[in-house]
Amino acid sequence: MDLRLLDAEPTTDERAAIDAFLGPPVSTWAGADAVEDGHSAHGGHAARAQRHQLLPTLHALHEKAGWISPGGLNYVARRLTIPPADVYGVATFYALFSVQPRAPRVLHVCNDLACRCAGSDKLIEALTERVGAHGTDTDGATWEPSPCLGQCDRAPAAFLIQSGEDPTERELTNVDAEALIEILYGATPAFPKSATPPQAGQPNLRLLRRIGLVDPESLDQYRAHGGYAALRRAFDIGPEGVLREVLDSKLMGRGGAAFPTGRKWDAVARQPRRPHYLICNADESEPGTFKDRVIMEGDPFSLIESMTIAAYATGCERGYVYLRGEYPLAQGRLEGALEQARHHGLLGEDILGHGFRFDIELRKGAGAYICGEETAIFSSIEGYRGEPRNKPPFPVQRGLFGPPTVVNNVETLVNVLPIVLEGGPAFAQIGTERSTGPKLFCLSGAVAQPGTYEVPFGTTLRELLELAGGISAGGSLRAVLLGGAAGSFITPDDMDLKLTFEDAREFGTTLGSGVVLGIDDAMDLPELLMTIAAFMRDESCGQCVPCRVGTVRQEEALARLASGRTRGTVQDELNLIAEIGQAMRDASICGLGQTASSAVESAIARLAVFTSNGGATP
Ligand SMILES: Cc1cc2nc3c(=O)[nH]c(=O)nc-3n(C[C@H](O)[C@H](O)[C@H](O)COP(=O)(O)O)c2cc1C
Ligand code: SF4
Ligand code: FES
Repeated sequence: MDLRLLDAEPTTDERAAIDAFLGPPVSTWAGADAVEDGHSAHGGHAARAQRHQLLPTLHALHEKAGWISPGGLNYVARRLTIPPADVYGVATFYALFSVQPRAPRVLHVCNDLACRCAGSDKLIEALTERVGAHGTDTDGATWEPSPCLGQCDRAPAAFLIQSGEDPTERELTNVDAEALIEILYGATPAFPKSATPPQAGQPNLRLLRRIGLVDPESLDQYRAHGGYAALRRAFDIGPEGVLREVLDSKLMGRGGAAFPTGRKWDAVARQPRRPHYLICNADESEPGTFKDRVIMEGDPFSLIESMTIAAYATGCERGYVYLRGEYPLAQGRLEGALEQARHHGLLGEDILGHGFRFDIELRKGAGAYICGEETAIFSSIEGYRGEPRNKPPFPVQRGLFGPPTVVNNVETLVNVLPIVLEGGPAFAQIGTERSTGPKLFCLSGAVAQPGTYEVPFGTTLRELLELAGGISAGGSLRAVLLGGAAGSFITPDDMDLKLTFEDAREFGTTLGSGVVLGIDDAMDLPELLMTIAAFMRDESCGQCVPCRVGTVRQEEALARLASGRTRGTVQDELNLIAEIGQAMRDASICGLGQTASSAVESAIARLAVFTSNGGATP
């Protein structure tokens, strides 16, 4: 390997942060004073085997130093035997990392869809006026605009990162300008209380039944409310029995792609190549999505139990939770639950004395929406830029580090508990023939009672909105954004749309990750479209030309339409947007590019956004 190290040296603190995570260096090559192992450097397989430590090592460095300096980067490269250019490529991939000196206290202020609906632009105006433009370092503190932080039910939201001796992260919800300025320069507030779902305590809930009622930090309470009964039944019926129940349940993945979970599990279980890996996709960065956070914060043991059952059925000995970087409360809850589960023999070498070995590692993302794409997760965990891979080979054949891998969404996994307990056929009776079971929806924006709602598939959009109290007082419904930034707009005339995979497909839309964002007539639609387009442009990993260039051209055309300074007629611009969308759909390798124009095109087609009221001159 051609390692071209920089001259820059790490500071004592930077070196200490990296050594604290990786352990002290054992060779002079890696920075030790004396050779302890008789070799000057590790190479070949030993060096490559450490590569997966890159992202957590960068986290450790960033938490202490507040940025990734050339000296710090150089030392990471040396310790992990990775070329500095490669480390730089990874460090610059993630929005939460800075490779420029930065104030140690950074407030990320959401200006995405739901927060805009809740007045985040005014908040940002006030911050700019009183604190200065974003990025300005005032007394060691600064602020940055941020895409959706997954707190849309409690918008407007922000996220505080304090680096240094005592690094801290906090989600901030329902904030106003005064509170933000106080937090920017003052004490760190306590974690917000985890959200209690509006339906808490109602009978017939399956996925949300414990949330808001049971102490999420207590294994005893989890057990007292039915916890670990499903794992015991799984051990009774054996791996084949669990697979049978999941196949019979007709459970479809809840992460957006709606793939049958039983088929995925069966494919991995039958692969002779070992080991097998299980990944829980908890990246949840689709704007408007927060249901997985609600589960992880409010019922973390349920995820651990369902992952254990999934691993048992598919022959995995190791699992990962890939958690979005902006969820510190969920991180703390999961870490605590993992520790308790290990302590009580519910994870580890011989789970509940059944001779089954399984453990879970938590991996934290660092602000990259694309890392929720299943193959991008592999790249990210392995220590590369979080770029998706071509399929085939599919993850069930060739996944994390090469071996067959199951990737499932948090909500998909927790559905396995009622499936194992009630039986697959009983589960399949809920919902419709092709969309079975309960479904979580994330209601936000201009709805009276935002939050995570659990309903059977087949509930209509109108019924769901009514559950949430309808549109917020004083407003009238202009549209619903269904499925998030990768979804599409639905008009008030189509509120009887049944929320099932098949009805959504037939209608020409998708349920995506379950986003239902209410939009009233006070909202500026062209501005919302610009926000979506900017998000896609920003989050494109840049690997394929149609997506890298198309997302930029789409945003430019929208900006011209919104400003009324079109090139040619409005129709010429709309034709261009349609053409760009087609190219991205046809030639992008992953779902981001393939859906990057869905919301924009649906707004043009269904809401006539630039032809009837968009403010553009023809
Ligand atoms: C750009 C992009 C982002 C994604 N983000 C997520 C995510 O945050 N969580 C998730 O579960 N699936 C996400 N997915 C879908 C995953 O690729 C994958 O289909 C899913 O994790 C499989 O789990 P499931 O079968 O349980 O749905 C994303 C897909 C794309 C294209
Ligand atoms: S479609 Fe976009 S996000 Fe996906 S791999 Fe290509 S460039 Fe990256
Ligand atoms: S937290 Fe602001 S839009 Fe989701």
